[in-house]
Amino acid sequence: MVDDGFILVTGAAGQLGSVGRTVTGLLLDRGFSVRAMVRREDERAASLRASGAQVVVGDLLKPGDVYRVVSGCGQVYFGMSVSAGYLQAAVAREAGVNALVNMSQMTVSEMSIQSTTPSHQQRQHWLSEQALAWSGLPVVTIRPTMFLESFLQLAAPSVRKRDRIELPFGRGKTSPVAAADVAQVVAVVLADPVPHLGQIYELTGPQSQDLDGVAREFSAALNRQVTYSDISPEEWEQKLKVQGIAGTSVGPSFGDGRVAPGGSL
Ligand SMILES: NC(=O)c1ccc[n+]([C@@H]2O[C@H](COP(=O)([O-])OP(=O)(O)OC[C@H]3O[C@@H](n4cnc5c(N)ncnc54)[C@H](OP(=O)(O)O)[C@@H]3O)[C@@H](O)[C@H]2O)c1
Repeated sequence: MVDDGFILVTGAAGQLGSVGRTVTGLLLDRGFSVRAMVRREDERAASLRASGAQVVVGDLLKPGDVYRVVSGCGQVYFGMSVSAGYLQAAVAREAGVNALVNMSQMTVSEMSIQSTTPSHQQRQHWLSEQALAWSGLPVVTIRPTMFLESFLQLAAPSVRKRDRIELPFGRGKTSPVAAADVAQVVAVVLADPVPHLGQIYELTGPQSQDLDGVAREFSAALNRQVTYSDISPEEWEQKLKVQGIAGTSVGPSFGDGRVAPGGSL
């Protein structure tokens, strides 16, 4: 495959954490040629184009699209919300790239063949890491905890309405990390991948605490009492549907059991 000097950023339009979108901006700022892959032409695609990215439209579930967008790219950021189909399509034609930066998540650090989690999405990320290892591609793995932006989006509605953080996290601890900080790491790796090949980078926020601790931080910041309420996964699923984010990079994590939020430390 001919490397035309482009860095490919998948999921560049951005929906939740928008790591791909931030990475695109950071690389353009540093003078790199960026091919930004989006799923559809919309205002997000237009603004990527206006910022200087080469925008390509495609579906990561379609091998033909993947071949087209990967061709000519030396480095690839693979940051899709996972499903069985994405990986198959993505890996199919990426042989030839000199670095693939795979966005995984922290909980994978605690998983193995013998030890898994009830979360469908976490299992998919684990499987993705295995398949990329088998593929022999030059991979750099990024394992962040839950994105702070996602956490705020999930917690805000019930805090606003009932002064309660209503999430199915049990007694699990988490240390959310800003998606913008994660994007900084991805951009640094894409800009000069060789020293990082084969590495796994685990990214956390500054403090690991349970949701009671988080509620205390909300209380202090909002100057009113906010408490944590541990809800059932079924209730959670319903709330995600109402918010319109079931089936996204946050949504599927909580589909089939009580889970630690993106990596309990
Ligand atoms: N959110 C968290 O707390 C968290 C924590 C740790 C790790 N992660 C992982 O980080 C990664 C990136 O998350 P993020 O929040 O930056 O993503 P995001 O902002 O939700 O962006 C994902 C993008 O992928 C695009 N997309 C979805 N399906 C596609 C397909 N079949 N073909 C082409 N494009 C497709 C979406 O396009 P449209 O917008 O047009 O649909 C969207 O722009 C995910 O793998 C996630 O699991 C997330």
